[in-house]
Amino acid sequence: MTPSDKFYITTPIYYVNARPHIGHAYTTLACDAIARQKRMTGVDTYFLTGTDEHGQKIERSAVAAGKTPQQFTDEVSAEFRALWDKMGIKYDGFIRTTDEHHKRGVQQIFRKIRDNGFIYKAKYTGQYCVSDELYVTEGGPGAPCPICGNPTETVSEENYFFKLSAFQDQLLKLYEEQPDIIRPETRRNEVISFVKSGLRDLSISRSSFKWGIPVPDDPSQVIYVWMDALSNYCTAVGYGSPEKRDQQMFEKYWPADVHMIGKEIVRFHCVYWPAFLLAAGLPLPKSIVAHGWLLFEESKMSKTRGNIVRAETIIDVLGNDALRYFLMREIVFGQDGSFSFDSLVQRYDSDLANGLGNLTSRTLTMIQRYFNGTVPYPSPTAARTAAEDGIAQLAAVVIRNYNQLFSEYQFSRALEAAWSLVAAVNKYIVEQEPWAVAEKGDEGSLSRLATILYTSAEALRIVTALVHPVIPESTQKIWAQLGLKKLEQVNPQKLKWGGLALGTKLGKIEAVFPRAEKNFVERMQQMEQDRINQSAAATASAVTPEPAGTGAVAGQPATQAAGATPAIAAPTATPATPGAASNGIISIDDFAKVELRVGLVKTAEKVKGADKLLRLEVDIGTEVRQIVAGIALAYAPETLVGRKVVIVANLAPRKLRGIESNGMIVAASFGEQGTPVLAGFLEDVPIGARLK
Ligand code: MSP
Repeated sequence: MTPSDKFYITTPIYYVNARPHIGHAYTTLACDAIARQKRMTGVDTYFLTGTDEHGQKIERSAVAAGKTPQQFTDEVSAEFRALWDKMGIKYDGFIRTTDEHHKRGVQQIFRKIRDNGFIYKAKYTGQYCVSDELYVTEGGPGAPCPICGNPTETVSEENYFFKLSAFQDQLLKLYEEQPDIIRPETRRNEVISFVKSGLRDLSISRSSFKWGIPVPDDPSQVIYVWMDALSNYCTAVGYGSPEKRDQQMFEKYWPADVHMIGKEIVRFHCVYWPAFLLAAGLPLPKSIVAHGWLLFEESKMSKTRGNIVRAETIIDVLGNDALRYFLMREIVFGQDGSFSFDSLVQRYDSDLANGLGNLTSRTLTMIQRYFNGTVPYPSPTAARTAAEDGIAQLAAVVIRNYNQLFSEYQFSRALEAAWSLVAAVNKYIVEQEPWAVAEKGDEGSLSRLATILYTSAEALRIVTALVHPVIPESTQKIWAQLGLKKLEQVNPQKLKWGGLALGTKLGKIEAVFPRAEKNFVERMQQMEQDRINQSAAATASAVTPEPAGTGAVAGQPATQAAGATPAIAAPTATPATPGAASNGIISIDDFAKVELRVGLVKTAEKVKGADKLLRLEVDIGTEVRQIVAGIALAYAPETLVGRKVVIVANLAPRKLRGIESNGMIVAASFGEQGTPVLAGFLEDVPIGARLK
């Protein structure tokens, strides 16, 4: 089989400690678009996604949710799958690391590496970040994780080690000889300097918890979650199976053509993974492509920061293709990009409703009206002007550029190119005034009208086929309205001007991108706020079974409040503090880190456009703090002025609806709605007094 006969692309497998959000959706739909485009070119394509379900982080999240790890992972993994299905993601395989065939394959990789002499046993003492499941070699106890910044935990265990240091030279040679293996260039350079700085052997097993794949011949240890997770790319296509059929599948698809990943997991994919494969004697992936982060209000969207946006909200209001188009068009692939509801709706209106939607409806409606729904063909006698030549030439350039840019993962520029054709044809229609030509009614005008409408419809056909992998649902509708079939079999690389056949009978014409209504932004914001409140209530009751009296914190979205301790919220959802035990218990030192102080509410007002938020100014003795709290449904602002409250005073500031919040107000939260009740005092207390 020659390399171009098949194409195997993977997403990272997603941790199931958090429900899927649009950051996850971003990676998945980029892969979906690439896979769809490959299939259109006739290449046998395999697109893999799945969930990463083992490890200490997941075990702790399950405990916090009051579930067994298996129950917990079953539920969250199903949510990922359901979202991909709702989004119309056409994956070929969905792997779970709890699948039996995966476990068997991982153990086989471990055995191979051990048999090849690259595994030994030794004592590991050092720092570990549970949130990123990363051994942190820089810094001592409590040192921050280089990925997430959370304090690391100290681990001291007898473990199996992988001789990573033995691969330093081979890896550097690989990056040199196969520069395309890491993309983009900036990431490749980072990896090279990391490897050049010296590789230490890596602990590849853990003995202090059980939720993982047992080390072959030593069930007291589980395999390091990253070795487990990375191996999915092989086990999903048959590695480790005794079945002939699976072995053939592995032969056919491995090595992967593209591992698509977020930039924070480059080290695992570009250093550990090739080293594991070299040690096991397996071929290396052809390329690892890292994209940037999706930011919301300037920080990475993540459960820990509580600033996540769900894909469902956008899909329910604007549809799948709006989300797909926005993410692929707005964010320069490889770089960080910002998400906001305002820019989403603006893009939708300008590019989809007014751009492609308008081109579709005006072209097809006029063909319907003037030619009875049959695509007219420009007659040989028709006056063909420079304007038509210009459109045809532009289309040829766009086809070439679009395909080139798409193959380089420059999605944003590729779409920009496609929309240059949309804009040019919309302008052409306005300038040619086909409606005025039609009014003349003579034969020459009819022939001119046919030329104009054919030109518009043919450009529409080309754009539709080109951008099908990015916006599959709406292009499928446009294709059917154009009276055409089998869009997924049109090869975008072979598109040529003039392919629209004479006499094509249009299908039923319907609006493809109805204009966004005025309140769409507020509607989506409100849906997100409701979801945050619901998840606070659900998590609060999962953490503490009693119906009332559980703690919640009202200055931050409640996903943050739902964490380790019921009395107050921990700043991270999983206890990542030094000394934290795996059952969620923290030490007194951990508790002492949270600075709780008495504050006096000086002013309170509603936050515009957010039903549930209040903006407060709270005097804490040393200063007056601005705090945004989700308590507006329970408290009228005027009832709070002059009231003493408890605030968490040493939380990093964060923005809610663009307003900086410098702390949290402590409240109990109960009932299905998560109704907040502010903590207070029966006796008088001075402002600024510390609670301990
Ligand atoms: N389980 C590991 C990956 C193991 S692969 C062998 C993991 N999981 S994750 O769920 O935390 O993140 C997976 C991927 O989700 C990231 O690499 C990235 O591709 C995507 N994203 C998660 N949040 C994101 C943003 N805010 N922005 C862009 N991508 C994001 O790491």
